[in-house]
Amino acid sequence: MDPKDKQEYEGEVFFPSPEIVAAAHVQDREALYRRSIEDPQSYWAERAEELEWFQKWDQVLDESNPPFFQWFVGGKTNIVHNAVDRHLKTYRKNKLALIWEGEPGDVRTYSYFALNREVCRFANVLRSMGVHKGDIVTIYMPRIPEQVIAMLACAKIGAVHSVVYGGFSVESLAERIEDAQSRILITADGGWLRGKVVDLKGIADEAIARQATIEHVIVVKRTGQEIYMESGRDYWYHDLMALPVSNHSCRTEEMDAEDPLFILYTSGTTGRPKGILHTHGGYMVYVHTTLKDVFDLKDEDRYWCAADPGWITGHSYIVYAPLLNGSTLFLYEGAPTHPYPNRWWQIVEKYGITILYTAPTAIRGLMRFGDAWARRHDLSSLRLLGSVGEPINPEAWKWYHNVIGGGRCPIMDTWWQTETGGFMISPTPDTPLKPGSATRPLFGIDADVVDEAGKPVQPGEEGFLVIRRPWPGMLRTIHKDPERYKEQYWGRYGNMYLAGDSARKDRDGYIWVIGRIDDVIKVSGYRLGTAEVESALVSHAAVAEAAVIGLPHELKGNAIFAYVLLRAGIEKSDTLSEDLRNHVAHEMGPIAKPETITFVDSLPKTRSGKIMRRVLKARALGLPEGDISTMEE
Ligand code: PRX
Repeated sequence: MDPKDKQEYEGEVFFPSPEIVAAAHVQDREALYRRSIEDPQSYWAERAEELEWFQKWDQVLDESNPPFFQWFVGGKTNIVHNAVDRHLKTYRKNKLALIWEGEPGDVRTYSYFALNREVCRFANVLRSMGVHKGDIVTIYMPRIPEQVIAMLACAKIGAVHSVVYGGFSVESLAERIEDAQSRILITADGGWLRGKVVDLKGIADEAIARQATIEHVIVVKRTGQEIYMESGRDYWYHDLMALPVSNHSCRTEEMDAEDPLFILYTSGTTGRPKGILHTHGGYMVYVHTTLKDVFDLKDEDRYWCAADPGWITGHSYIVYAPLLNGSTLFLYEGAPTHPYPNRWWQIVEKYGITILYTAPTAIRGLMRFGDAWARRHDLSSLRLLGSVGEPINPEAWKWYHNVIGGGRCPIMDTWWQTETGGFMISPTPDTPLKPGSATRPLFGIDADVVDEAGKPVQPGEEGFLVIRRPWPGMLRTIHKDPERYKEQYWGRYGNMYLAGDSARKDRDGYIWVIGRIDDVIKVSGYRLGTAEVESALVSHAAVAEAAVIGLPHELKGNAIFAYVLLRAGIEKSDTLSEDLRNHVAHEMGPIAKPETITFVDSLPKTRSGKIMRRVLKARALGLPEGDISTMEE
């Protein structure tokens, strides 16, 4: 599609200022996009050359065994070589890599030199504990620098990290450790959130008791609260870092481009979470280029992605992509509203943040406190804003744009997924914006909205969001379950990746993501599976059966509502309801806690026994129940 005159766009459109367009790193997006689609392999080869390789690839893309695509085959690199090591040869050695602020207000900074030193030291510790290339190490940490250091240290020695979000709880952690068969767990004595300590070590101890693989636990002292340390199993991070093995230089392992970098568990349609696997080569190229293009990183930027490193947004765009770009990243430990709702705006002003990337739910949450909290602060350092995780409602978009961005900062609404590794559909700073749309596919990405038969739908019609060809940042498989990978993402169309979202495309080619088409619920932008919440409920002694649905919620986007059938002889009560909600929080984490529990005498099911969640949802919303011909009597 060619650039248009302003008048030709459909709907409400915000045009970036000529200064922003002129200064942007991406120029002439249309032409570049066309080229990237006409000849993707040469496009990606060029982008890969922006980084260093120990050995160049023989083949950009191997498509011989779809959907098991391979990128930069024969190439040798290590993402840490590009994210850390290579900067030490330049002036960036003295540049700040990481500025961190804890919730209580403590501050730590690391230059690239210092970051490398800490990564080397910890990598040596891990090696001395027998961690080898290919071993999976589980990381369960608060948002502190050691989380970043631990991830990089694993990658440096070729170990595969599996980070479990610090907001998850006992069962979620246990099943992820079990699936990954991790021997080593890295955690902390706690983290600060809303003025309280989150007892990560206590949760970890309970989780370890439920599985059999963990041999050693490395514990960072963050809060200083009393914790249990098991002799011979648990070690303090600072004790290990004081040992002679933790010397300051450490060889970065040469990895094949296709060697695994990490697995990250995410929720799918059914059953247990899936370990999404990403690689050193393709993922590295993809996150490096997408961050550079979309957030237009410049050397002088101070970039803040306010997500958690425990989710894909944090892996890609807190840790790896900013460091690959040699940027200064900011990390904040705590809650946006602690001690007051101006905490984030205070941070922006204090550190001169230039790029802020967050989720609609956070924007809505802060918007609710009114404009005055933000207006107290000088936010003029900001030049670009970003949004991710769920569709952003136009009201929140406008508040973000006007009150936070002073009307001058374009909002990069980035659509992507754990599976895609990086941004897929997103504006670049030169793109005319429509509040609520992630605009158009990025370079090399052939995204479309299609019907059941795989044909593109008409403008304005709803359909399935698909990607027509492989891209370097794509997941390679689901850990230990390649069949599920094939079936879930490529099963429906064979030659197209099914994202699991419904969407519309307008006359300007802008894509409007509507929401999930499966049993995934996005709660405050967090991705949860109904099946996991249901199994947490059923693990309570009082529960016979449970069904969980997501319903629209003003702040959270969606919230969890549970329907519970009690075991015979158990009385329903408010206390029990509260007990069940707390049980889910204890097993999965506070984010999964249902809004309400409704006790029922039966659940709508198909004759083959599957719970018909869509019927529950229709009933809750007062909508027609749709086709119920398969429902049991
Ligand atoms: O439904 C889409 C929604 O988040 C899902 C992916 O969730 P997750 O793997 O946890 O990754 C979230 C962060 C990348 C998608 O299938 N989603 C993500 N970004 C957007 C979005 N929906 C609308 N607009 C977005 N910008």
